Amino acid sequence: MVVDAVRTAFGKAGEKGIFWNTRAEDLSVPLLHALVERNSPVEPAMVEDIIWGATNQIKEQGGTIGRVISMLAGWGHDIPGCSIDRMCASGLTAIGFGVSYIATGMADCLIAGGVEHMGHLPMGYMRDPHPRAEEVMGGPSAFNMGMTAENIHDRFPEFTKEMADRYALESQRKADRAIKAGKMKDMIIPIEVELADGTRIIADKDQQPRPDTTMEALATLRTPFKENGRVTAGNASGLNDGAAAVLLMSEERAEQLGLQPKMRWVATAVAAVDPTIMGTAPVPATQKVLKKAFLTMDDIDIIELNEAFAVQCLYCLDRLGMEWNDPRVNKWGGAIAYGHPLAASGPRLVAFLAGLFKENPGAKYGLTTMCVGRGQGYSVIWENLIHKEN
Ligand SMILES: CC(C)(COP(=O)(O)OP(=O)(O)OC[C@H]1O[C@@H](n2cnc3c(N)ncnc32)[C@H](O)[C@@H]1OP(=O)(O)O)[C@@H](O)C(=O)NCCC(=O)NCCS
Repeated sequence: MVVDAVRTAFGKAGEKGIFWNTRAEDLSVPLLHALVERNSPVEPAMVEDIIWGATNQIKEQGGTIGRVISMLAGWGHDIPGCSIDRMCASGLTAIGFGVSYIATGMADCLIAGGVEHMGHLPMGYMRDPHPRAEEVMGGPSAFNMGMTAENIHDRFPEFTKEMADRYALESQRKADRAIKAGKMKDMIIPIEVELADGTRIIADKDQQPRPDTTMEALATLRTPFKENGRVTAGNASGLNDGAAAVLLMSEERAEQLGLQPKMRWVATAVAAVDPTIMGTAPVPATQKVLKKAFLTMDDIDIIELNEAFAVQCLYCLDRLGMEWNDPRVNKWGGAIAYGHPLAASGPRLVAFLAGLFKENPGAKYGLTTMCVGRGQGYSVIWENLIHKEN
């Protein structure tokens, strides 16, 4: 059961980013505090494990960050923790492992989440691929996520640049409406931070959204991954810093503590595809998870699809039998607008789904799904516990 889901604001990676002077551990600790404080009578000692996703597990994100953050939170030495890497789905996998622990009776109360500081640890930083890695993954483009999106455009030309830009514009518009309507307030935990110029601010708003986006402006952006390509800064997710986490409990423990869980885990599936078109992988992962849950796409009321790139969303929606603008998908906008701090994005999808379940009690099932570098897809089906039959 997901009892609560929180996140930091998402900053832009780099010196102009709100978290340039904030370490990955210090993005994580406030979430641990918040999950306990918001869910009285939960106490740190009840947390049986902290499962923390991080893609680049070196420097500040290395050394088993999941173990270190509970001590930095002032919770003493008694709370175990680990770190998980499945690249973009690291945080969603952390949640997947957490629910499996609970389902098998190994634990009753856990915190699972993820953090990525892409400003301090850029994608691919200090990686040392095997000399045969390119060969076994289908060529150099498998290592460059933007190129994997260009590959989808090339192999499936029915998804045009204009369609990708329109999808991106719609993500920005939905995000703008959601932000203005205050939908982010309950999930974002404000953190006091120091900017690069020494100014102190309360970071409580996402830095990436561009509500001023227009089709005309999107059409003029350069294609950084390939000359005369179709993927731009406008129809791709950005480079971001942020963290997100959930409090997971067994039904019995939540009941004992008098807590009302928001959603129940139904099924998880992971699938793998050709790494050079990694963005297509939510399709087999979702087909697999639907089968496990004895459901079809028609049974899913709310869909949170991570927007690594607009073109891979267009492909996935089409192959899963949906229109590009299906109203069930990313109602509050997606990663093209909010940003994609890799390991934090899965728990961010879960936080969005929890919020959407709350305001849509008629919705019964939800899906969180995302693609992963090196060619993987990770899908989870959830049941709304605030559901009321119409
Ligand atoms: C695409 C990418 C290279 C762009 O990086 P960047 O150049 O630092 O991005 P910026 O935010 O500076 O945007 C570039 C330009 O586009 C403009 N721009 C970006 N989004 C825009 C929008 N929605 N509307 C209008 N202009 C926009 C910016 O203003 C900037 O213009 P400028 O050069 O005149 O300043 C980077 O975001 C990236 O690598 N994204 C993919 C991340 C990824 O692979 N994640 C993992 C997925 S599996």
